[in-house]
Amino acid sequence: MGKASRMEKASGIEKASGIEKASGIEKASGIEKASGIEKASGIEKASGIEKASRVRPSLPTGAAKVMAVREMFDAIAGRYEAVNTLLSLGMDRGWRRRCLDALELTEGSRVLDVACGTGNLTRELNQRGMRAVGIDLSLGMLQNARANAPLLLADALSAPLRDASFDGAVSGFALRNVSDLGLLMSELARVVRPGGRVSLLDLGQPEQPLLRLGHRLWCDYAVPRLGAVLSNRQAYSYLPRSLAYLPSAHDMSRLMARAGFVAVEHVLLSGGVSQLYVATRHL
Ligand SMILES: C[S@@+](CC[C@H](N)C(=O)[O-])C[C@H]1O[C@@H](n2cnc3c(N)ncnc32)[C@H](O)[C@@H]1O
Repeated sequence: MGKASRMEKASGIEKASGIEKASGIEKASGIEKASGIEKASGIEKASGIEKASRVRPSLPTGAAKVMAVREMFDAIAGRYEAVNTLLSLGMDRGWRRRCLDALELTEGSRVLDVACGTGNLTRELNQRGMRAVGIDLSLGMLQNARANAPLLLADALSAPLRDASFDGAVSGFALRNVSDLGLLMSELARVVRPGGRVSLLDLGQPEQPLLRLGHRLWCDYAVPRLGAVLSNRQAYSYLPRSLAYLPSAHDMSRLMARAGFVAVEHVLLSGGVSQLYVATRHL
């Protein structure tokens, strides 16, 4: 038995087939198949959102990005939550609350936590009485998850999940990390039922000049240095640079509308240090 499969067995993290009955997850034959690595070049074509012109040349795209993201989160998983809270000066807690409030779903709703990582939002969804399912492509992040919910090791861009099987979906700080945002939006529109809700949280860049300068200094100087001391130099140099992957609010709203969402709202949090996209799956 390979190292990866031993770890999965030990941790109780499910590949797609084990929890299909409980959570509407369909069969997938293996991690590689679910992760879409082989399909990455096709993915890029699907929405064109990550054209090289928009993204800094030093940042990976397509299949290279999928692998880089997986390796990076595997490497920082153990301290991810603590370092995240420290580097956001504790603000991530409030942002996550706002993300879940915006869902406006009732107790018992089935909600997918896309790119759930160590299960921060998954836990909070459960605490609010919702039935959460987490999905992430980093085994390391899932092994460090403290959520009492089904967790699926798979790529959200080719998720082995049934159509319309969720009342809603959330994601926290994941939009920058996926290799094709257009495809992610289409997948969310597929798995969320008509009338269902999505609330997608990520970092942003403030517009107000003074706040923008402070934010820039924090991201470009403090985050890489603190990240290097507390966790992993390479990862915490990449994370601030990854903001360049995010499309403008206008482009993102268009992607969501094209995928099948209506009433798309873009909400700035903490002056734009983070941002939220909220929308309803059209009927
Ligand atoms: C910054 S972490 C966020 C974790 C968690 N959502 C949170 O709020 O703290 C980004 C996560 O996105 C995951 N990820 C990136 N692309 C993904 C994809 N295509 N499918 C599933 N997970 C993905 C990474 O493995 C990583 O765990």
